[in-house]
Amino acid sequence: MAQIRKICCIGAGYVGGPTCSVIAQMCPEIAVTVVDVNEDRIKAWNSENLPIFEPGLQEVVESCRGVNLFFSTDIDAAIVDADLIFISVNTPTKTFGIGKGRAADLKYIEACARRIADLASGFKIVIEKSTVPVRASESIRRILTANTKCSLSFQVLSNPEFLAEGTAITDLKNPDRVLIGGDETPEGQQAIKTLSSIYEHWVPKNKIITTNTWSSELSKLAANAFLAQRISSINSISALCEVTGADVGEVAHAIGTDCRIGNKFLKASVGFGGSCFQKDVLNLVYLCEALNLPEVANYWQQVIEINNYQRRRFAARIIGSLFNTVTDKKIALLGFSFKKDTGDTRESSSIYISKYLMDEGAHLHIFDPKVKKEQVIQDLSHPSISEDDPDRVLRLVTVCADPYEACNKAHALVISTEWDMFKELDYERIYKAMLKPAFIFDGRRILDDLHAKLQNIGFQVETIGKKISQRLPFTTNHNHSKVDRQFPPTKKMKN
Ligand code: UDX
Ligand code: ADP
Repeated sequence: MAQIRKICCIGAGYVGGPTCSVIAQMCPEIAVTVVDVNEDRIKAWNSENLPIFEPGLQEVVESCRGVNLFFSTDIDAAIVDADLIFISVNTPTKTFGIGKGRAADLKYIEACARRIADLASGFKIVIEKSTVPVRASESIRRILTANTKCSLSFQVLSNPEFLAEGTAITDLKNPDRVLIGGDETPEGQQAIKTLSSIYEHWVPKNKIITTNTWSSELSKLAANAFLAQRISSINSISALCEVTGADVGEVAHAIGTDCRIGNKFLKASVGFGGSCFQKDVLNLVYLCEALNLPEVANYWQQVIEINNYQRRRFAARIIGSLFNTVTDKKIALLGFSFKKDTGDTRESSSIYISKYLMDEGAHLHIFDPKVKKEQVIQDLSHPSISEDDPDRVLRLVTVCADPYEACNKAHALVISTEWDMFKELDYERIYKAMLKPAFIFDGRRILDDLHAKLQNIGFQVETIGKKISQRLPFTTNHNHSKVDRQFPPTKKMKN
């Protein structure tokens, strides 16, 4: 079995950075170099302020940075030196050309393969870590075969990463499984064993699953599609709950106790976000269409449609409750990242909710504990969100450093990310500072236990998947089905 002394990871993002930091910590005899074209990102990895926020990451990095973990922009040297190369670059949804809005753009993966072909010699194991469409490793293999300049021999493996942001370090240190796909030839099997030996430093062998390359690639897409499907399923039920009087929390609990269904990933919400779910489901849809399986494509497309519907429906509920107009009203939006414990905003539902409210002329005062002001403005200025009117964002959006400031004189408070700190806010203080009637829209159901208290304070509370009997004399319009459908369909945006 080939001895691995040096690992190179191309791409120092949300996947490559944490994954290779944990590998370095767990394998002290291996030198791990993470490289990236983005100089600022590498500088940040080498500083006190890591470029991504992830609980526990700082400690892992500090324990081995400069010892056997290195961050560098010298991509070529790292490729030449390495025995094993992870490709962990981004694979965004294509924004133009064939497959626009659905297919994954593999240009960054291809660039890596070409660079490896140009520089590498001897034997290398090349591993696709990024989530890729099925058969992408075949493309890497063909590029390597066709362009190798030096005497390079190689094996290409698929080793998709299943970490979730916010829990990346725990997921990496204690994974449900590690999946390795490779060639069925003896050389392919040998390469699988070599990669497996790295994970065996800390992962029990029975959790390391080996398959052929295509199964591994498809399993990653299928796993994300199944998870996204569960969220869309419970979100579709939440719509039903809001008009029937059932409570989606109770329904989720009741069905989740059936061990065949299980209780995880059944939290109704403002819709799933993140860089993976939408991208991977769309990728699956595209693959099915390309392979002439339209019924399968339509089936998975519905997961996306329900997610878009959930976002529109939530925004429509806000507008409907605020007497059918939010024009020039101040709305506090708490939470901008796509989930708690991350500063990542990619495909965050907050972006879309903000868009729908901006479309109606609302003034948004946004607070998130980990998302920087520039990021909020950049996300909302994207042409598909700002309707090609970047001034609209400057006119309508204020990013606040404090949740109380965001709520001051607001008509409504909208929770769209489930940050723990939002459960601990001083709601009496917030109520006093808000305009009356003061509304809370709990898009994450994090205030479930506080509803009675909030109503006693005087708030009108609206929550996903539950019809709450309001104590104040006027009624709010809970049946927004017409408004939901009138909302424009969500346009596709950047990765
Ligand atoms: C996901 C997969 O979980 C992970 O295995 C894969 O490697 C990458 O994609 P991630 O996107 O980081 O991870 O976070 P995840 O915890 O899956 O949440 C995705 C979105 O779904 C978030 O917006 C989250 O708030 C939402 N969600 C999750 C719900 O709305 N309800 C749930 O019950 C669970
Ligand atoms: P992910 O969430 O999949 O990790 P990110 O966007 O966070 O995606 O990270 C991907 C990283 O890959 C980025 O920092 C980007 O600069 C880097 N990258 C993309 N193409 C290349 C390349 N050809 N060489 C080196 N780094 C690259």
